[in-house]
Amino acid sequence: MPERRMPGRGAPIGVFDSGLGGLTAVRELRRLLPGEDIVYFGDTGRVPYGTRGADIIIRYAKQDIAFLLEQNVKYIVAACGTVSSTLPSAYTDALPVPYTGVVQSAARAAARATKTGRVGVIGTPATIQSGSYHTALSALLPAARITATACPLFVPLVENGYFDAGNVVTRLVARDYLREIKAAGVDTLILGCTHYPLVAPILGELMGPEVTLIDPGRETARDMRAALADAGLLRDGAHGEARYFVSDSTESFVRLSDWFLGEYAGGPVTRISVDGYPVE
Ligand code: DGL
Repeated sequence: MPERRMPGRGAPIGVFDSGLGGLTAVRELRRLLPGEDIVYFGDTGRVPYGTRGADIIIRYAKQDIAFLLEQNVKYIVAACGTVSSTLPSAYTDALPVPYTGVVQSAARAAARATKTGRVGVIGTPATIQSGSYHTALSALLPAARITATACPLFVPLVENGYFDAGNVVTRLVARDYLREIKAAGVDTLILGCTHYPLVAPILGELMGPEVTLIDPGRETARDMRAALADAGLLRDGAHGEARYFVSDSTESFVRLSDWFLGEYAGGPVTRISVDGYPVE
């Protein structure tokens, strides 16, 4: 990693994801830290990551991070559950700016929320296979009983607009995916993928009101204030701006981003090519 000057508190936070889903974390960051500028990179040209092998996910994530570092960001947030679960800490610890994924914040929130120690985790196949939530939760709550299920169909369903609370197709799929987790009697469910907050109303109804749903993007955004303050990088105020970069068409970003952002804040969207960035 080349030597570089540490960006100061006026620099933006860099957020990345395999695609648009990470905008659910941007939405929370903009709400909770309105003074911060954000540079978002969504790798829309190479999404999905969650069904790929670890070597490819790591290569893509390193290129995404190299792009953000070039934007002189002061802090890097991997909003992607898959990347957060796969990128080795030996790599992220050596980055020239602080880095966080979403797993630790979500695991801490789940450990606080559960009364029975029975926690469900849903995520992409790569996230579930990595055992990342199992590792993080067991460290916090050694007696935790974790039931984890990969839910690969939720990503394409959400990206095709199948997330309204009454959607019969998504409900059917969700009922099937949640069977084992429901049978385990969990009282807390981690929505371990960027897209799942959009189907939270369906998941909440199927799980029942006594089950707490944890949104990793939201929990990470909540932890960011303290993390930035600790690093001397917190920028208060209310006029932070967002710039968006994608690796596929900007038209589809503008069309779909409302779903994830809640509101498209109108920041400029630029298409870049990320393939040439280093993978070291
Ligand atoms: N962003 C991914 C995640 O949170 C979901 C989409 C994908 O598979 O790339 O795991």
